[in-house]
Amino acid sequence: MTKDRVLIFDTTLRDGEQSPGATMTHEEKLEIAELLDEMGVDIIEAGFPIASEGDFRAVSEIAERTKNATICGLARANYKDIDRCWEAVKHAKSPRIHTFIGTSPLHRAIPNLDMDQMAERIHDTVTHARNLCDNVQWSPMDATRTEWDYLCRVVEIAIKAGATTINIPDTVGYTAPAESADLIKRLLEAVPGADDIIFATHCHNDLGMATANALAAVLGGARQIECTINGLGERAGNTALEEVVMALKVRGDIMPYYTGVDTTKIMNISRRVATVSGFPVQFNKAIVGKNAFAHESGIHQDGMLKNSETFEIMRPSDVGLSGTSLPLGKHSGRAALRAKLKELGYELADNQLNDIFVRFKDLADRKKEVYDDDLIALIRQNDTVEDLLKLKHLRVVCGTEGPQTADLTLEIDGEEKTVHATGDGPVDSAFNAVKALFKHSARLQLYQVHAVTEGTDAQATVSVRLEEDGRIATGQSADTDTVVASVKAYINALNRLIVRREKTAPGEDVKGVSYKDVN
Ligand code: KIV
Ligand code: ZN
Repeated sequence: MTKDRVLIFDTTLRDGEQSPGATMTHEEKLEIAELLDEMGVDIIEAGFPIASEGDFRAVSEIAERTKNATICGLARANYKDIDRCWEAVKHAKSPRIHTFIGTSPLHRAIPNLDMDQMAERIHDTVTHARNLCDNVQWSPMDATRTEWDYLCRVVEIAIKAGATTINIPDTVGYTAPAESADLIKRLLEAVPGADDIIFATHCHNDLGMATANALAAVLGGARQIECTINGLGERAGNTALEEVVMALKVRGDIMPYYTGVDTTKIMNISRRVATVSGFPVQFNKAIVGKNAFAHESGIHQDGMLKNSETFEIMRPSDVGLSGTSLPLGKHSGRAALRAKLKELGYELADNQLNDIFVRFKDLADRKKEVYDDDLIALIRQNDTVEDLLKLKHLRVVCGTEGPQTADLTLEIDGEEKTVHATGDGPVDSAFNAVKALFKHSARLQLYQVHAVTEGTDAQATVSVRLEEDGRIATGQSADTDTVVASVKAYINALNRLIVRREKTAPGEDVKGVSYKDVN
């Protein structure tokens, strides 16, 4: 690797998936890993193998299938985590173990280790990982709030014990660009052996500076950026992959570094991650937001027509957006639909295409013109997990005189059940009907409706977030009927919550594993 090449380490499937509500199914994880590999990401952090059987299975299968990227698993600083991680990644063409421990005063207090005890643990666990795998990454969690002298000491210990990458996490999104650059630069100068390994940066976005901090770290000497698609991640998220990659591409004049990412694949993976995680992309999000390349004001449109560079620093095609494309209609055939979906990044098997085609015809009957966004919304509805609950029939009566009522039939685990319910408005009555048929204690945390396109016949995309006993799941759906979309999104979230129930939260099944137990 030349000094100018920056490695892209994607952690959508680990840090991103850890974000409350962003649970992905096994198949979804495999699909995202494949897209990341195809787009040229260097390292994929595929999960946290000891967290659950599901995580272990996903990491192992991604490790076995991935053609190019290095596959990494996360492990805490104990032998049991590290062994489990190795079991999961060892069949990869290029495996990596990523082990970490919190080194700041607040984080040291959690395992109740003093500085010397922690230093010893770092030495032992990195040595153990390195005995299993040639490629070991070590992270001092909360590095940006760790005492400088101690940070230098533990980084040196990890390098001596065999770490090949040292990641410097800004775990709580506390640092700022100048400080981020300076920290890496000073570590490179101060720590013996630092020149022989790669320094990585891992920034959270609590103050909205994750992208700036990651790029500054590169200016300071980091050569690996940890990031996620759409900036998904704990709390305010992580550095967004699309932002750092495009910033390096567009501003090569002041940041002369390059990545191996094929930027034309960005839009497609962004849409897929938004769909499977249930986290919609904000309209004005840099690079991948719906409005990122839209020029609506008269003055902008005039300038754009004369020369697109007037207001555009990147071409839409650079990120995989085709120019203005003609909508499909009810006379469009299967071939036209297949071609359009391919252009949008969806290559479907024949049976999937048949299913989408039926639904496309149904939509085209109700809506004159079917736009790209309509098709994407349609595809998203195919993305249900192994559905325990299915919507069979819904009829709502609403008007100025209440109460509003809903007649609902659901298929629950293969058996059809019907109920009549009332509520304060059509959505409330329909949701009450779902609750009457499928008893649960999930609390509605978020209910959001967006119009996919313009016009009163536009499809509505609905997102529903539910919480039950600390577990969170988000469901999405779209329909020209807002109430139908709402019920489908609600059911989708319930289906995901059921999957989530079966998945142990990180930490639960590793309770009681202490450093002492595993040494
Ligand atoms: O934010 C963080 O510190 C992490 C570590 C596990 C690297 O995600
Ligand atoms: Zn993180």
